[in-house]
Amino acid sequence: MKPVKIGIIGLGTVGGGTVNVLKRNAEEIARRAGRQIVITRASAKDLTKQRICDTQGIALTTDPYEIISDPEIEIVLELIGGAGAVKDMVLAAIANHKHVVTANKSLIALHGNEIFAKASEQGVIVAFEAAVAGGIPIIKAIREGLSGNQIQWLAGIINGTGNFILTEMRDKGRDFYDVLAEAQALGYAEADPTFDVEGIDAGHKLTILASIAFGIPLQFDKVYTEGITQVTRADVEYAEQLGYRIKHLGIARKTQEGIELRVHPTLIPERRLIANVNGVMNAIVVKGDAVGPTLYYGAGAGADPTASSVVADVIDVVRALTSDPENRVPHLAFQADALHNIPV
Ligand code: NDP
Ligand code: HSE
Repeated sequence: MKPVKIGIIGLGTVGGGTVNVLKRNAEEIARRAGRQIVITRASAKDLTKQRICDTQGIALTTDPYEIISDPEIEIVLELIGGAGAVKDMVLAAIANHKHVVTANKSLIALHGNEIFAKASEQGVIVAFEAAVAGGIPIIKAIREGLSGNQIQWLAGIINGTGNFILTEMRDKGRDFYDVLAEAQALGYAEADPTFDVEGIDAGHKLTILASIAFGIPLQFDKVYTEGITQVTRADVEYAEQLGYRIKHLGIARKTQEGIELRVHPTLIPERRLIANVNGVMNAIVVKGDAVGPTLYYGAGAGADPTASSVVADVIDVVRALTSDPENRVPHLAFQADALHNIPV
């Protein structure tokens, strides 16, 4: 079958990681997708910048619209970020009948209702697994794995930068802004890091999770949002002495009055699993009426973990494109010669 051509707009932490994973795991990915996936074009603002990925064989441009209007490209990966100019890019891609994969939580939380409506009109897919909790497949888990449940509540650590800061303050007594600078250097933080430390990023993610879990429209303005900038080293130490950890949580709960959405720092007894989620790791507990509580844990930010989710979405889109019904449901994609026969 003909390879699927994709274009990537944005070649920073997530875009670079995505190129790396697509190249490194090309064979497995093609087997699972049922078709080979080829990155034909990519865009960045400054083409002279050093990249974390090898861009050999990819036509580079500074103009994302060259990708969006390329008739050969079937899937556009939006990995720039922000909710301004990028919204127009995504709508233009949809208007050109491209499927879109994005990691952009602010875009989905603020403009998702409009974007999904346009995608539905055009019969294209907009996939966004990487927008929440980096490498944890939480969207899939709620939408697919728990689809037979009524979700009662979900709560978790959904900002890696914030958790990294709180962990380093507690474990090493480090200064808040010193750790934030390190998170930026490691590529964990948002372009505007106040989104991380003021709870806005977690609010965007909670908006998306709540929409999927409770079947409600995306309503970021309904989220009570408080960040970690008021948390001092003394607070962290006192909490520790009292047997607690301070964690920044996103919480969505069904109540008699309606769905409650909030993000804020929380005191958690140190014996609880979630109190022991450290560094850039995220963890989310989702309680369904049938399954009870379930826990999802993994890297919440960073190049490769986030690329893991982006690439999974690309594979899903490619599967959905095929007319072969067997390929439309995840299958085992056997590799017949991979078994090591241990002599008995
Ligand atoms: P980066 O800042 O590392 O990368 C952004 C990329 O977009 C850069 O390559 C930049 O070019 C390019 N770019 C910016 N403006 C334009 C433009 N006008 N035209 C073309 N290219 C442009 O961001 P991240 O990779 O960290 O984040 C990307 C998205 O992924 C965001 O939505 C973010 O919220 C989300 N995300 C990030 C995670 C992470 O761990 N970093 C995790 C999960 C989601 P240049 O390199 O030349 O400056
Ligand atoms: N800035 C975000 C975080 C990236 O630290 O969690 C992942 O969404």
